[in-house]
This record gives sequence, C-alpha cells and structure tokens, in this order.
Amino acid sequence: MGELEVEKHTKYIISVEKKKDNFESVVMEHIRLNGAYWGLTTLDLLGKLESVDSEEVVSWVLKCQHDSGGFGGNIGHDPHLLYTLSAVQVLALFDKINVLDIDRVSNYIAGLQNEDGSFSGDMWGEVDTRFSYLAICSLALLNRLDKIDVEKAVKYIVSCKNLDGGFGCTPGGESHAGQIFCCVGALAITGSLHHIDKDLLGWWLCERQVKSGGLNGRPEKLPDVCYSWWVLSSLIMIDRVHWIDKEKLVRFILDCQDKENGGISDRPEDAVDVYHTYFGVAGLSLLEYPGLKAIDPAYALPVDVVNGVFFGK
Ligand code: FPP
Ligand code: ZN
Repeated sequence: MGELEVEKHTKYIISVEKKKDNFESVVMEHIRLNGAYWGLTTLDLLGKLESVDSEEVVSWVLKCQHDSGGFGGNIGHDPHLLYTLSAVQVLALFDKINVLDIDRVSNYIAGLQNEDGSFSGDMWGEVDTRFSYLAICSLALLNRLDKIDVEKAVKYIVSCKNLDGGFGCTPGGESHAGQIFCCVGALAITGSLHHIDKDLLGWWLCERQVKSGGLNGRPEKLPDVCYSWWVLSSLIMIDRVHWIDKEKLVRFILDCQDKENGGISDRPEDAVDVYHTYFGVAGLSLLEYPGLKAIDPAYALPVDVVNGVFFGK
C-alpha cells in the first residue's frame, strides 16, 4: 500500500488556491468559498495551515458577505446557505468567527426557515435537507440555534426518512448518502439521533462498500472517494463504523492519489480536484490514518477547531 503524499497534496492545494487562470479555478469561480473551505480544511488536517496568510483569507471572506448578512460564493455573488456555512467554517479554522456581526448572519439564516420547519437555500425558495444541515451547523457554530424552531426543523428532517432507514432531499425522496450525512449531522448537532433506526441505517450504509474497498452513494453506483466522507461520517455518528472494512477503504483512497503532482481523484486514474482531495483526506482522518488531525464527523471541521469554537482555546 502506498503512503499518503502529504507534501505533494499540500503543494497541490496551495497552487490551486493561488492560480486564477487554470481550468479548475475558472470552473470554481462561483463557488470559491466552498473551494476555500475544502482546501484550507485539507491543509489543517495535514498540519500545514500555517503556510497560508490568514489575514488575506479573512478579509476576502468578509468581502463575500452580502447586505442581507448571507455569503456568496465569491465577491459580488448572490448569498446562499451553501456559502454561508463555508464562510463560518473558514473563519473558525483561523479562530476568527468573532470578526462577524453574528446576529446579522444568524438572522439571515433563521429567515430562511419555512413554516413546516424546512429551510430554503436562499431567497428563491428551493427546499432540501442539505439546507437544513447548513442552517443548523452554521447556527450551532455561531451559538445561535435559539433563533430557529429546532423542534420543527427536526420534525421536517424526520419526515424525510425512508423505509430503508436512509434520508432523501424532501419527503419521499430517494435515500442518498450525501443527504444522509446532512440529516444525521443535523440530528447529531441538535441531540436528536434517537429518531434514527441505527441498525437499519447502518446496514444500508455499510452496503455502500464495493469490491475495490471504495464506497458508493447509492445502490448500483460506482465508488467515489467523496463518499468515504458522506458514508463514513454517518456511520461514525450512529456508532456503526466497525461494520465496514476500514483497511480496504484506506487502500482505495490512497490508490486515488496523483503520486506525481499531488491531489486525489474520485476513482483511481481520474483527474484530481480540490473537492475529492479534501474528502479523501477527511475520510482518512475519520479512519485514523497516522499523522492526520482528527476531524469532527458532524461539523466537518478538525476536532481542535470545534473545541476552540465551543470551549475557547
Ligand atoms: C453528493 O453530491 C453530496 C451531497 C448531496 C451532500 C452535500 C452536502 C452539503 C452541501 C452540506 C455541506 C457539507 C459539508 C461537508 C460541510 P453529488 O452532487 O456529488 O452527488 P452524486 O454523487 O449523486 O453526483
Ligand atoms: Zn465524488
């Protein structure tokens, strides 16, 4: 089994953060705050966050904030919960949540809760359990969960539970490992995991492991490194991670590395990107790969960062 190419992945992430003219940077222009969260969290897990100029990052993040209090994917872009959580997470990495006007940001988030407890992602109204997670995780990190009706939010998430134990985007929507992470994460943060049939969901999740050791997101799909995160974090939150073959999964993730230029891809031999590099490293962290910082499965941030937010440094 190959080793994790820590130095090469560090170089790769830093080069993507800096370059503004390559294909990946152009494609990522409108979701740059998500990219910053993926890249910077990877560096922190690898123990390399000090290679970044934190003041430059913090001042750019603040420029992505809209008058409404929400954040856009880049300067001048429309606000959405997707980028608002990334902004809070990036600031948390640098212990800088306090630079925010916390009430302004949390009022924006709370204003997106609907009568039935669900959340819209932005002013255009699309509803999805992803947005429930984004709102709940952001508000918890901002210590403002009291701004929403948590009971209704939980009730809505539970209404998206399926007979197979999994969760979909809306009531009746097909179970999907990404949505399961969102629902289990939101239930974990709000202390509501008792709504889950852990054996039933654990069974569905561990069935995601295929022959190569990799995990897929739904039955009959190809394995993909990012599902190492969505599936594994959910299994850990419901205490069923011992139901998968951890060693085979470590091998699958390591096989997806570009050993020459750094970065991790979705499957062996595919092109690398920051998203899969992050979820590969985060997956290895959940698997307790040596030398990596531990990551919190619900907040998707290094454990020491989460402790810093809640208990101070
Ligand atoms: C699969 O996406 C993943 C999801 C649907 C979950 C997305 C979760 C969030 C946006 C919440 C924030 C996440 C973190 C870690 C803080 P995909 O489009 O790749 O699915 P596919 O494999 O079906 O194409
Ligand atoms: Zn993927």
